[in-house]
Amino acid sequence: MDQIVQFVQKSDVNATLVAVFGAIGAAVIALKTISFLKVLVDVFVRSGINLKKYGAGRGGWAVITGATDGIGKEFASQLASKKLNVVLVSRSMDKLKAVAEEIEQKYNVETKVFAMDFTNADDAKYNALKQVLDPIEVTVLVNNVGTNHEIPTPFEEETDAIVHNIIEVNVKAAMKMTKVVVPQMIARKNGLIINLGSFAGLVPTPYLSVYSGSKAFLSSWSQAIGAELAPQGVHVQNVNTYFVVSSMSKIRRSSLLIPFPKPYVKSVLGQIGISGGASTPSTSTPYWTHAIANWLIDNAFTRTFWVDQNYKIQADIRKRALRKRDRETNKNK
Ligand SMILES: NC(=O)c1ccc[n+]([C@@H]2O[C@H](COP(=O)([O-])OP(=O)(O)OC[C@H]3O[C@@H](n4cnc5c(N)ncnc54)[C@H](OP(=O)(O)O)[C@@H]3O)[C@@H](O)[C@H]2O)c1
Repeated sequence: MDQIVQFVQKSDVNATLVAVFGAIGAAVIALKTISFLKVLVDVFVRSGINLKKYGAGRGGWAVITGATDGIGKEFASQLASKKLNVVLVSRSMDKLKAVAEEIEQKYNVETKVFAMDFTNADDAKYNALKQVLDPIEVTVLVNNVGTNHEIPTPFEEETDAIVHNIIEVNVKAAMKMTKVVVPQMIARKNGLIINLGSFAGLVPTPYLSVYSGSKAFLSSWSQAIGAELAPQGVHVQNVNTYFVVSSMSKIRRSSLLIPFPKPYVKSVLGQIGISGGASTPSTSTPYWTHAIANWLIDNAFTRTFWVDQNYKIQADIRKRALRKRDRETNKNK
């Protein structure tokens, strides 16, 4: 009889445990499903803050760094198409003038150009730019300029020059440009700062360690200043970018995961104030396939798994890049 009672009690405990773990499992699956559906709603259904809030069509100016090529040039064009005047900043005056002329003719907005090399810009250069920007109403800043390792390289082998350039361009330029324009944004209680982040900042990327670290800085710094500046009317958005066709990515053909700059920038500007696939504050992953990839990174497997994946991908790219380098050296012999 005692054995029967014990058996019944044991099966009651087992049934309760199964019910509790089943309920927890169902709740976890439900929460994950809801968070995935939210990503889809964000990228396919919701519209972001209208750029009219940031001066479009009423004399506001957008400042874009790295504005003569790739993603930055596309930002300049699309912001101008929304009737923002644009200030283009890059190294080459010839390219700046050509892009400005194209934009003025196409979109009938005002443009200004300012040539500077962010790898060696000193305080005097940033002050000279401030003199250009202080008299105009800067409502949007796109911290787009960026530079990368030439090829995936072990940290101990990377040159000091490349490490210096990545820090100056990806880290210091974003901070210094923000310091140049944010006082006037705060004074008007209105402004938008878009920082070009990367998946390399989301998941540490072996062999691109300094670039990866610079984008992780951008992510963390954007979240921190995003919280500081929100009560002052300035919205900060770090955009998590996977690959985009450009000279930096060295990718020429687009695919489901790798858009051209045009659809990519359209997704960024269409989702101001919306997180898309991102799970951190002041951050957005707006392009739909990037958003799903971001969700997977945050919700499936461990961070160690994703770092290992990045390691394998970059080790393979490095092998191919070194073979290409060897071929070119042999050709020139
Ligand atoms: N493409 C991607 O797959 C990808 C992925 C993740 C994140 N991102 C980020 O997106 C941003 C733009 O990348 P992108 O692919 O569009 O680059 P890109 O096609 O190489 O264009 C870079 C732009 O920056 C300017 N520039 C480069 N170095 C400069 C310097 N030292 N000083 C001033 N201007 C400089 C270039 O013009 P000049 O040569 O005339 O100066 C050009 O206008 C970067 O922050 C990058 O990290 C890109």
